[in-house]
Amino acid sequence: MTLLNRQLYLESRPEGVPNEKNVRMRSVSLSRPGPGQVLLQNLYLSMDPAIRGWMSDKPSYMPPIALGEVVRSSTLGRVVESRHPDFQIGDIVVGLAANGWEDFSLTAGEQLDHIQPYSRFPLSHYLSVFSAVGLTPYFGVLDIGKPKQGETMLVSAAAGAVGSLAGQIAKIKGCRTVGLVGSDEKCRWIVEELGYDYAINYKTSENLAKTIAEVCPNGIDCYFDNVGGEVLDAALLNMNNFGRVVFCGAIAQYNTEQPVPGPFNYWQILARSLTVRGFISPEFKDRFGEGIEEMSTWIADGRLIFAEDIVEGLENTLDAFSRLFTGANRGKLMVKVRDPSEPAPTIEEIRAAAREPTHV
Ligand SMILES: NC(=O)c1ccc[n+]([C@@H]2O[C@H](COP(=O)([O-])OP(=O)(O)OC[C@H]3O[C@@H](n4cnc5c(N)ncnc54)[C@H](OP(=O)(O)O)[C@@H]3O)[C@@H](O)[C@H]2O)c1
Repeated sequence: MTLLNRQLYLESRPEGVPNEKNVRMRSVSLSRPGPGQVLLQNLYLSMDPAIRGWMSDKPSYMPPIALGEVVRSSTLGRVVESRHPDFQIGDIVVGLAANGWEDFSLTAGEQLDHIQPYSRFPLSHYLSVFSAVGLTPYFGVLDIGKPKQGETMLVSAAAGAVGSLAGQIAKIKGCRTVGLVGSDEKCRWIVEELGYDYAINYKTSENLAKTIAEVCPNGIDCYFDNVGGEVLDAALLNMNNFGRVVFCGAIAQYNTEQPVPGPFNYWQILARSLTVRGFISPEFKDRFGEGIEEMSTWIADGRLIFAEDIVEGLENTLDAFSRLFTGANRGKLMVKVRDPSEPAPTIEEIRAAAREPTHV
């Protein structure tokens, strides 16, 4: 068997949603781990809007992906060879730092976390609801939104990975929840299946600020913002005094290379004594265990519903990724590169196929 590593790498910086001119596929020889390194076979790739930001040459909380580099992404994989004392062949791990859109990732073990294989949940959950993405709404709602019984929480991108959980967590804490989504089908889903109290299709509302006012006659106490842009402006006009805006993401502007106008209704932050707090979930890394434990209890009790939207095949990754921006995904979007039940390559197969170890 010839083992090759298929990689999706950044050929050019996208303007708009990335296409096959920006992200190309190549096949390279497998690299074997040098001292302190681990070779993973990727099973699932996480499709995250943030990856679009890393494709641009702009400052962010992670460096831009260099041209020619594999597209960086969180992945869930299994260790197939290790020269790192903390990782053994067969370990299931989730990582981001050196992982990417490829069959195999060679990493020095940084930001690589073990998954307990005896868990009662499917492996994919550790790249979705129990990952940094799934824990984003947990800490964003509870620690930043600080919901109180009877308050109203508005959530944008409410049928997505983060938003679908944010509304349910706020509901568990006794809030009235309203979700903003981009289709009537998503409206139905978040109300009928996820338990949102009300849903608004922001694409068909002629005057979103007015529609929100009608649906939230007592105003909004907390806005969980996943999109920024015009939706944020409409929400700001409906905030109650001392309301909180949880600034989680701004997907409405990720595909724009031009300067983006600030919120037109920025003044409302002052006029209504609002608190706007941005965050990234790794800020809460040392409390992830607590979040996973509580969310797994809610899932087991049927109080928290979580959807995974899984596309098969590394070769379909770019198409899958674009669904984040057309709104075609529902729940957490991932690519399954390889079925976990398929056997992993043996050391002999890797040795036969691979280049000499890369020394670090
Ligand atoms: N702060 C953190 O640590 C953190 C962690 C993870 C994610 N995030 C952020 O959270 C947000 C959601 O991420 P996710 O992974 O859960 O993605 P997602 O919500 O599963 O997918 C993205 C959704 O955004 C909506 N959307 C796309 N383009 C839009 C636009 N121009 N205007 C309004 N809505 C648009 C689409 O839904 P509709 O059909 O409803 O339009 C789409 O399905 C993103 O901004 C992401 O960067 C932040």
